[in-house]
Amino acid sequence: MRKLEDKVCIITGATSGMGKAIAEAFALEGAKLVLSGRSKERGQALLTKIKNSSGQAIFISGDVSQSSTNKKLVNAAIEQYGALDIVSLNAGILGLGAVTELSEESWKQTLDTNLSSIFYICKYALPHLAETKNGNIIINASIAAFKSFPNHPAYCASKAASVALMKQIAVDYGPDVRANAICPGPVDTPLLWESAKAFEAPEKAVENAAQATLLKRLGAPEDVAKLAVFLASEDASWITGSTINIDGGILNV
Ligand SMILES: NC(=O)c1ccc[n+]([C@@H]2O[C@H](COP(=O)([O-])OP(=O)(O)OC[C@H]3O[C@@H](n4cnc5c(N)ncnc54)[C@H](OP(=O)(O)O)[C@@H]3O)[C@@H](O)[C@H]2O)c1
Repeated sequence: MRKLEDKVCIITGATSGMGKAIAEAFALEGAKLVLSGRSKERGQALLTKIKNSSGQAIFISGDVSQSSTNKKLVNAAIEQYGALDIVSLNAGILGLGAVTELSEESWKQTLDTNLSSIFYICKYALPHLAETKNGNIIINASIAAFKSFPNHPAYCASKAASVALMKQIAVDYGPDVRANAICPGPVDTPLLWESAKAFEAPEKAVENAAQATLLKRLGAPEDVAKLAVFLASEDASWITGSTINIDGGILNV
């Protein structure tokens, strides 16, 4: 029996990295997907891949920092599949720069993309999630919610706040909806390599990050996708309001 058979799921950040791996894993487990990202080209490529392996999915391009995009994603799930069971929120940007260097525009864009987008989609999705009596929200936060990195103030602030928002949702919407946050350490995606640009020697910084883990490697997007499948499934039916680190042990060092 597949773990997410016929579950209707919105996945943001599905055009790259962890969101893409989660989309592929959810499709293999039988979920019906609404995929989100800005890149139409990468969205279309993912759609083709999922459909070629008999998965069910639609792709809707748009900027999740805008409330209207999030409303559109929820409406699409209801119109296409008639219900909404799970939202997996992965869209994220870095907005690099120390406080005195960061423009107000970049600060706002980072907070809007990483945090306000979660508020918007939950605002529209929660009535439908609650209706199923078994709704499920999985936020891709970061160990940056608990740990600082050079030149990442907007990112770290947005991630800490997204964890706080997740806990609040778990309080306000239980028992009908579960909400949890995945907190990855360094995972090998385009965003990690972009993040390394905040360091003097980016390649060395990525290698150092891998070696700083207890398991001496970067995470793979698929490592995180396996955790997302677990949290989305009935196997995790008594887990809510939790932050789950998946970081090769780096926070333990
Ligand atoms: N990689 C890491 O080491 C790491 C560690 C901890 C947490 N995280 C978090 O994990 C999540 C996924 O990151 P990733 O590493 O997989 O990054 P990634 O490969 O760069 O993917 C980021 C995704 O977010 C989407 N996105 C960004 N801004 C958007 C916007 N305004 N509207 C719609 N979609 C937008 C991108 O879509 P388009 O490209 O189509 O615009 C892309 O699909 C992020 O929230 C990130 O903060 C990453």
